[in-house]
Parts: sequence; C-alpha cells; structure tokens
Amino acid sequence: MTSSRALLTKGDVSPLRDVPSHIARPEYVGKKRAKQWRGGDVHSAETIEKIRISARLAAQALAEVCSHVAPGVTTDELDRIGHEFLLDHDAYPSTLGYPGAWGRPAFPKSLCTSVNEIVCHGIPDSTVIEEGDIVKVDITAFLNGVHGDNCASVIAGEGSAEAVKLVDATREALARGIAAAKPGREVNVIGRVIELFATRHGYESVADYTGHGVGPAFHTGLVIPHYDSAPAHNDVITPGMVFTVEPMLVMGSQENHEWKDGWTVATDDGSWCAQFEHTVVIHEDGAEILTLP
Ligand code: MF3
Ligand code: CO
Ligand code: CO
Repeated sequence: MTSSRALLTKGDVSPLRDVPSHIARPEYVGKKRAKQWRGGDVHSAETIEKIRISARLAAQALAEVCSHVAPGVTTDELDRIGHEFLLDHDAYPSTLGYPGAWGRPAFPKSLCTSVNEIVCHGIPDSTVIEEGDIVKVDITAFLNGVHGDNCASVIAGEGSAEAVKLVDATREALARGIAAAKPGREVNVIGRVIELFATRHGYESVADYTGHGVGPAFHTGLVIPHYDSAPAHNDVITPGMVFTVEPMLVMGSQENHEWKDGWTVATDDGSWCAQFEHTVVIHEDGAEILTLP
C-alpha cells in the first residue's frame, strides 16, 4: 500500500460525447433550468415499472464502470465506459447536460467521478487514479421517460485500513437508512439513523447534499437529508413513493466548498469521503431497492 496521494486538482475535460438522435433526451438538456416537477413522489404501478427498468440499467452501468476502477485509469475513461454502456442500452446518461444552478454551466459528462476528498459531483477528466484512492462513481440512466440513480465507492487496488473502514461504514449507513424507511414514518427518520451510525463510527455525515425524489424528474423537489433534520423534512413515507438515499460520510470535517468549475465539491480539510446511493420504492412493508443489477 503506497501512501495517500496529494490533494486532487482539476484535470483536462475531454470534448462532449455524442448521443445518437434516436435516444430520447430529458427535457432539461439544452435548457438553463430543469422544469420544476409538480407530479408528487407517489407514482402509479406503471411508472414504477418503468423506473424499475431505468434503475436496474443504472445499477448494471455502475457495476460495469466500477469494474474498471484501477490504478492508472483516468476518470475520463470511466466516463467513456459509462456513456457507451447506457447508449448501448438505448438510455441517456442523465447527468450529461444537466443544468447548473444560478448560471453555472451544465454538467458536461455522463457520470460523476469523485475521488478521495471530493465529496460529490466530480467531473471526469484526465485525472489518473492511483493505488488506494477512494473513487465514487455516480451514474443515472434515463429511459422510457424516467430516471434511475445510483452511486458506489470503490478503492483502487489495495486501500488503507482507514479507507476500507470508511467505505464499509458508508455502505452500512445506506443499508440502515433504507431499512428505516417504513410507511407512516417521516422521511427524516432516514437521516437520523444514518447520522447516528456515522457518529458512532467517528465519521460525519455530510448535510449539504441530500437524497431526492426521482423518477419522471431527475430531482423532483422531495429532499431526503442524511442527518437528523426533525422537525423539518416531515414528508410522510407512503407506499408508491420513489426516492434516493445517498449518504456521504467523511473521516474528518464535513465542511466543504465548490471548485471554480461550478460542480466539484471538496472537503475543506482534505479529509476523505465515501458515498453509496440507491433508488428505492416504498411498499407496505418497507423499502425495496431498485438499483440492483
Ligand atoms: N447523481 C447525482 C445525485 O445523486 C446528481 C448529479 S447531478 C450532476 O443526485 F449534474 F452533478 F451530475
Ligand atoms: Co441522487
Ligand atoms: Co446519483
């Protein structure tokens, strides 16, 4: 195990990748803003079946991309693999052209790659992955008019014991948050469980970035915090609801800042972060994970 690498810096972003015209684009591509979704977060059985298909494809894409995480590979190469996988399955990579907030540029790539102290929304570029890096891959598939969204953390080569522990704890935090998502409870139960678990293991759970309603819109407006937000975020979990849970746990302080590129989020203290994300649907007896391959 080599020592941990230096702090990340921005690399070169490759030209936009093409999407053949027969693949349907989400409404926001080429626009300043995504349309505000007003259709709620409880969906019909038909819509849920469509989300199931997008979510499974997103999970398959994630597995394919993650299998290529290794020392020497660039994050741009991971983007190429994810982009081509989704196109091969007639899906659109939801992040490609996703509008930024307040005049920031649209996201220029087909997945997010966030390495080490990058919390989330890292833009794939010429950065070369090194032994021991924690690489978060977040990929979303748009197919039949609906999105499925998921993320995983992979360690390149052999990781330090600390990195392995962080990744394992974050995976478990997600599992516990999902297990707490029962009908009749408020969505804030999810973050309460996640934050408590993180704290017990000596980690902070990032508050600034949240889970979200997903399906006919990439981000419906429903917010799923990963901290104890009660009495806020008291939306009642209801059968037929679809949303993501996507905790980010950090070894040090969760204080963070955005890079000048308008997307990349890094911890202020350079401490490393792991993230996992699933899209789930709520049933009478609890949450079902849709982002499984
Ligand atoms: N997939 C991310 C999420 O979990 C969103 C990425 S938006 C992007 O919500 F524009 F940064 F790609
Ligand atoms: Co998400
Ligand atoms: Co995501």
